[in-house]
Amino acid sequence: MYHLYPYSFMDTNGDGIGDLEGIIQKIDYLKDLGIGAVWITPFFPSAWEDYGYDVTDYCDIDPRFGTMETFLRLLFEAHRRNIKIILDFVPNHTSNLHPWFLESKSGRLSPKRDWYIWADPRPCGGAPSEHQSVFGGSAWEFDSSCGQYYFHYFYKEQPDLNWRNPEVRRAMNEVLHFWLKRGVDGFRFDAVKHLSEKFLGYDSSSFPARVLTEAERQDIFREWRKIVDSYGGVALGEGWETDLSKWIKYYGDNLDAFHLPLNFFLMKTDWQASNIRKIVDEVEAALPRGAWANWALGNIDISRFSDRYGREFERLGAMLLLTLRGTPIIYYGEEIGMRDTLIPKDRTRDRWGRDPERTPMQWNDSRYAGFSSVEPWLPVHDNRKRVNVRAQDCDPTSLFSLYKKLILLRKSHAALQKGDYRSVGTSSESCFAYIRGVFGQRFLVVLNFSGETQYIKIEDLDSEGLILLSTLLDREEACDLSRLSLRPYEGCLVEMASDG
Ligand code: NOJ
Repeated sequence: MYHLYPYSFMDTNGDGIGDLEGIIQKIDYLKDLGIGAVWITPFFPSAWEDYGYDVTDYCDIDPRFGTMETFLRLLFEAHRRNIKIILDFVPNHTSNLHPWFLESKSGRLSPKRDWYIWADPRPCGGAPSEHQSVFGGSAWEFDSSCGQYYFHYFYKEQPDLNWRNPEVRRAMNEVLHFWLKRGVDGFRFDAVKHLSEKFLGYDSSSFPARVLTEAERQDIFREWRKIVDSYGGVALGEGWETDLSKWIKYYGDNLDAFHLPLNFFLMKTDWQASNIRKIVDEVEAALPRGAWANWALGNIDISRFSDRYGREFERLGAMLLLTLRGTPIIYYGEEIGMRDTLIPKDRTRDRWGRDPERTPMQWNDSRYAGFSSVEPWLPVHDNRKRVNVRAQDCDPTSLFSLYKKLILLRKSHAALQKGDYRSVGTSSESCFAYIRGVFGQRFLVVLNFSGETQYIKIEDLDSEGLILLSTLLDREEACDLSRLSLRPYEGCLVEMASDG
């Protein structure tokens, strides 16, 4: 799966911002890379306070990205190439300019008043609770026209919908049907954790309990899942849970909530062999029977992978991501090693500082990296001479070539796609090794997380193997698993002899 940020993928109308036509132009790029599904972040009409996550109309296309006709063409072109299209669905909040909110705000007697979360000031004055917004400051905004506060977990321009209200549920479910009927293949449900908020030191008598209980929230997840299933689609859920036992709940008690609760466990952690092994083992052990995993190294909300962990780990990260069990999700540009871009103060767009990881895709080494014919909305990284698709496509040893090979190998071997996962011990603490296998076909993945060459023995394995791929893309050879050498930060994918 490819996590595509449309603002920065490809601009075709010369306004410096990416557009849907740009995705159509680059659909063969995605096909050649081996992508099977594209999750596109919101391109619906929006006030762009939170770059698409403040929707003003859930059932249309922001004219800055194209028209409904362009979107349907994109869907057609993607499907023609066997690529699925997954949309972002933002249920927790709308824009404060959404007609629903404007109506709700128009007066205490508005028929849509209860579509959002309104509360009186405390008797002694001030916000109804101590609740803090994730973006900082109080989660309550005072509306002087009616003398009440409304709740916003994110920016004040993103008022939270009241999911206790059945009309909200119905209206939002209609949105799902709207897109599914048009042929989209599923949704990534945004910020679902925040449908039920935690109470942080507030006096319950002064605040109407409109926030959901855990059980009510699960019920909504199940309802969405039913809708998505009825069209044969997929439901991804974003919870940003760092606690495994909480994350697992997003699958649902009977696997009836999200197919793929997004997995953030590799994103902010200690990038060391023993820790990564622990994470993968724990996720694998926690997965309910029949649940399908997913993995990602980055996304639109955090620094690029190499800026978090170091460039030396780029190739290791790629091999890990593409050989684990579960759907790998590649953040756009990760396949060429895009880095965070320094954003001058006067070019800042996102108030929360997420511009560096959202800059234009680097297609070639030209001034605007082939992304646009004019100065793009965010600056292009000055590493574009080296870090660009065209240059890396011609270089058989590039990171891009590694991504392509890994995806191809994954697609052509059932063991890598669907096989079991089992971690294995090695004689080096700096290495993480695991086996993926199905029907007698077995692959060993060994990753050296250190800057030194490691000579290792894989525990309980004396057999021979065949190195199919090294992250350095320079060896394909037979090897002895009791004496395997790995260069600094090298990873190897080894096909094992069936009797090993
Ligand atoms: C998660 C999205 O990834 C992020 O970019 C956005 O700001 C929040 N949800 C709020 O919608």
